[in-house]
Amino acid sequence: MDNDTYKLVVIVGSVREGRFGPVVASWVAEQAGIHGGFDVDVVDLAEIDIPLSLPAASPKIAGDGYPRPVGMEALTSALEGADAFIIVTPEYNHSYPASLKAAIDWHFTQWTAKPVAFVSYGGAAGGRHAVLHLENVLTELHAVTIRDGLAFPKYFTEWQDGRPLDSEAPGYAKTVLDQLAWWAGALRSAREAAPYPA
Ligand SMILES: Cc1cc2nc3c(=O)[nH]c(=O)nc-3n(C[C@H](O)[C@H](O)[C@H](O)COP(=O)(O)O)c2cc1C
Repeated sequence: MDNDTYKLVVIVGSVREGRFGPVVASWVAEQAGIHGGFDVDVVDLAEIDIPLSLPAASPKIAGDGYPRPVGMEALTSALEGADAFIIVTPEYNHSYPASLKAAIDWHFTQWTAKPVAFVSYGGAAGGRHAVLHLENVLTELHAVTIRDGLAFPKYFTEWQDGRPLDSEAPGYAKTVLDQLAWWAGALRSAREAAPYPA
């Protein structure tokens, strides 16, 4: 990885049987590859052991010594090494899936002073309720959420053969990726210059 390339982790937030999430994540990863500013890693939460029951101490207090399951190692090291994140999320009951909340709650420092963009999909609202909740949660973890994002309403009729029918979608994706790269660079420099006072 050269110094102008940022390690981007694309998180597939849904783990449901028959889910659409991997289709969206795969298109997002493709757009990030085309952008050229990122070294892209897709992390699928369905492949990670994410228990709902947390250890007694919080990850904020336990730091590096937080006792995570062995099956979570791939997720933790991906989050740890990331310069930027894209969370791909559906909308479940006007919020985001429990799988995503559990994955977030098992971590703390891994999110600190790093940018997060969102790509959502769902019914009429395109997952926007899910994103609003995620913005709130990730701010608590000292992450920096990006204003622009991609929302795909009615994905069941608006996507075909693994891509959105909207011909402008790749352009929108580029705008988000440009903003994410800008923040990834700014925040990586800042983290290197001084520890974040969390
Ligand atoms: C439990 C559940 C609740 C849902 N609630 C909403 C909702 O509030 N708004 C919405 O637009 N779609 C909702 N949907 C529809 C999902 O957006 C749609 O099923 C989508 O495919 C879920 O993403 P996934 O296939 O990656 O799991 C819900 C689906 C499930 C399974």
